[in-house]
Amino acid sequence: MVEQVETSMSETGKLCVDGSEFEMPVIVGTEQEKALDIGSLRARTGYITLDDGYANTGACRSAITFIDGEKGILHYRGIPIEQLAGKSRFVETAYLLIWGELPTSDQLASFSRQLTENALIHEGMKYHFEGFPNTSHPMAMLSAMINALSCYYPFVLEFETDKDIDKAATLLMSKVRTLAAFSYKMSKGQPFVYPDPNRRYVGNLLHMMFTVPYKQYEVPRAFQKALDLIFMLHADHEQNCSTSTVRMVGSAGANLYSSVSAGVCALWGPLHGGANMGVIQMLEQIQEGGMDIDTCVKLAKDKESGFRLMGFGHRVYKNYDPRAKILKAAAERVFAQLNHRDPLLDIARRLEERALSDQYFIDRKLYPNVDFYSGIIMRAIGIPTNMFTVMFAIGRLPGWIAHWREQFLQGSGRIARPRQVYTGQQQRDYIDMDKRRA
Ligand code: SDX
Repeated sequence: MVEQVETSMSETGKLCVDGSEFEMPVIVGTEQEKALDIGSLRARTGYITLDDGYANTGACRSAITFIDGEKGILHYRGIPIEQLAGKSRFVETAYLLIWGELPTSDQLASFSRQLTENALIHEGMKYHFEGFPNTSHPMAMLSAMINALSCYYPFVLEFETDKDIDKAATLLMSKVRTLAAFSYKMSKGQPFVYPDPNRRYVGNLLHMMFTVPYKQYEVPRAFQKALDLIFMLHADHEQNCSTSTVRMVGSAGANLYSSVSAGVCALWGPLHGGANMGVIQMLEQIQEGGMDIDTCVKLAKDKESGFRLMGFGHRVYKNYDPRAKILKAAAERVFAQLNHRDPLLDIARRLEERALSDQYFIDRKLYPNVDFYSGIIMRAIGIPTNMFTVMFAIGRLPGWIAHWREQFLQGSGRIARPRQVYTGQQQRDYIDMDKRRA
């Protein structure tokens, strides 16, 4: 039982276990969220806490992103996502997340120039791509090649000062596009296309993906804006599974690149960043008549079915994901500009409407999340479904960098090492082979 004891000095929480009372300090965040600091719990009570999926557990103090799940609020370094979506661009937002402030025009120009100048990857890395089967999943290649970067740029393994980190971070932000584009080209059996210094961040990625030797790809402005917005909306989301993975790996003193490589693997999971692929597969199934909307909702409600409404629900948002709201409007804009309509968008809207009026979804506060509409826009751009989570990874990279950097500079040096409740066999003796029974 925890009761909050108002004290003049500072708030504390009282924990009563085994008949004794223990006061725990209460930490109050900038937006008044409260936490019990249980750092001394085990030493004082012999107890640990158990929290499946860490739904109630804060892993750190962070100044990067604030989410209010009940109100559907998302701020990057204090700035509402709606304002950034309307006024900023991905590169500027990445700068804000990593270094904490919106850049001046000189700082932004310098950052953009470094991103342009570092887009090439070492020629030796091409042979790694050629070694992958062309059926390899791009997320497997992305994770492997981000780690391989440190073999070709070993200075990223020496990081003493924040200047070292800034350099490694900028290099990674730049080269991640080339790695992604090369993995796409490899899967298409097409020659690699090198970065073009005259193109901006997103335009260069689309150029490297879609230009072919006989035809330069001219990036439609609507596509560049839409993908830039998708990256911006994905740029950070506080302690989500992949970012927590980056922080966990970084807490062992591992370098930025290997920490991010692990984050890519976590993001690949269908419950996390892999959901954007799952949404399109679900909508296509409905479109092809494999399933109708009512069946889809019925299956999602049936625990035995193992089916989930992809792109719906969220550990933190118990309201409409503000990013989904922005992406839904962006999808409408892109199709209006293209004078084209993807039937999947209409199916998505009908599915959303049907689910949001269903008591199961209402009771559990399940709303569309960032993945519900992002895939429809990427499909319109011509990005294949198996590259959707790679796009999510490119968008999330500044967040991963920002959190790794924040943890490194906080310098607590404590390795992340949770406890457990053991539920295995009690102590027993070794059994010689001739005495064992199946
Ligand atoms: C991302 O954490 C982040 O911030 C992630 C992210 C980011 O930017 O990094 O926002 C990106 O990962 C978005 C989520 C993408 N994943 C999906 O869209 C997959 C479908 N969604 C679910 O699997 C689920 O909603 C999660 C994984 C997103 C959240 O899972 P939780 O918080 O563990 O929720 P839960 O499983 O405890 O669900 C609570 C209830 C359960 O029912 P009951 O046991 O209470 O009866 O809601 C049900 C669940 O069965 N439920 C769903 C559902 N999501 C939850 N039922 C049907 N369809 C769904 N999508």
